[in-house]
Amino acid sequence: MSNAMFTEEEKKRLKISARKHVLGHWMCNADLDKGVKIFTSGKGCRITDIDGNEFLDTFSNLVTCTIGHGREEIRHAINAQLEALEFFPNYHDGFSAPLVKLAEKLAEIAPGDLEVTFFLNSGSEANETAVKMARQYFWQTGQKGRYKVISRRGSYHGTTLGTTSWTGFPALREPVEPLLPGSIFAPQVKCSECEMKLCYPGCGLACLKELERIVVSEGPDTVAAILMDPLPGSNSGYPVPPKGYLEGVRALCDKYGILLIFDEVQTGFGKTGKWFACEHFGVTPDILDVSKSITSGYAPLGACITTQKIASAFQGPGNEFRSGSTYGGHGISCAAALANIEIFQRDHLVERGAELGRILKEKLSSLYEFDVVGDIQGMGTLWAIELMDNRETRAKLKEEYGVFIRDWCYEHGMILRNNGNMLVIAPPLVISNEEVDEIVNNLRQAIQAAMKHFNR
Ligand SMILES: Cc1ncc(COP(=O)(O)O)c(C=O)c1O
Repeated sequence: MSNAMFTEEEKKRLKISARKHVLGHWMCNADLDKGVKIFTSGKGCRITDIDGNEFLDTFSNLVTCTIGHGREEIRHAINAQLEALEFFPNYHDGFSAPLVKLAEKLAEIAPGDLEVTFFLNSGSEANETAVKMARQYFWQTGQKGRYKVISRRGSYHGTTLGTTSWTGFPALREPVEPLLPGSIFAPQVKCSECEMKLCYPGCGLACLKELERIVVSEGPDTVAAILMDPLPGSNSGYPVPPKGYLEGVRALCDKYGILLIFDEVQTGFGKTGKWFACEHFGVTPDILDVSKSITSGYAPLGACITTQKIASAFQGPGNEFRSGSTYGGHGISCAAALANIEIFQRDHLVERGAELGRILKEKLSSLYEFDVVGDIQGMGTLWAIELMDNRETRAKLKEEYGVFIRDWCYEHGMILRNNGNMLVIAPPLVISNEEVDEIVNNLRQAIQAAMKHFNR
């Protein structure tokens, strides 16, 4: 429905009802107090709100919408599936045709020997299920003592109780504790803010050594999985891991017989300039979790992609993987994902992700002209600009620059995500070079306005 189809009265009513009848996800009361935002249509990299205001979407609808908004190809694929069969569950011994076709396609594009998929509805479910898969794998292969999960501080893995247990942000964990026993945290790997106050390469990858120390002190025979995001997401500012770290984690898992789970819910599907971020490091996990851009946001879908070796533990009567949900791998979502991947392959969007990485790096780097710009990190189309009081000492800003800049951009027709004083730039893969310039120009003006506002 386009915004022209809402009467003034309806617009007013929906905004009031949003506050009265909806408890929002990760709600921000301070921002809601500034006004309710309702979006009604989209095309390419732009979305339009209920009042007809158009915005350049630099956060790709929560890092989902890689192919841009309003694609006819996806609408046709969804309609065709709806006309054929609205739903058939992936249950017992039954499958829908698009689900099987998508499993084939994922086996083709996933790295290494990842070729068997379990489908879900979301990224949280994918991570939760990967851990269940690891635990049952060990339960079934004579290692029942392996139940612990090692994840990292500063990484987000989802919203369920399990994934909250492995999410390394105390503020998200504390209100719902106690969480799952056996959830162990290793250091965040962000060289610009090293927990150990060391510098790469002189550190000799102390973070990796600490990870091994944790494995040994917990008892390797009790650890089922190491769960990590090879490129941590927008909450952490996309810190690219130092060379040798992920390779070392893979070797460590092999040494102690631990399963390696990569959470590529945010980083998968071309956004780093390869299909999956782990490919930049030549490291293949035992289970790869994806969601978000698997459908570019056109329908909900999550997936755990694993190897024949892991999957073979679930073959034979009585050995089945004891997990499932009614809608996991919904046919409409699978049809959307297949059409989405077809667009990726036809339009060479993974290669475009790599090209955009070079362009964004160069253009965003021009913002170092402002002394509040401390750090710019990322790869492909995933970038974070950290604002600081002092680039050398890395002293934090006292003022809320991030909020000011985000609001300034919004008033000037651009959606920008801020995480405190970190600005996140994660545009769709179909963004044009001119639109990249528009982003950088807006950021330049917004930073200038913020500096003036805060008397810098
Ligand atoms: C890295 C990562 N893992 C897991 C999730 C959870 O996915 P979902 O919100 O689809 O449950 C997210 C969501 O932002 C994410 O960025």
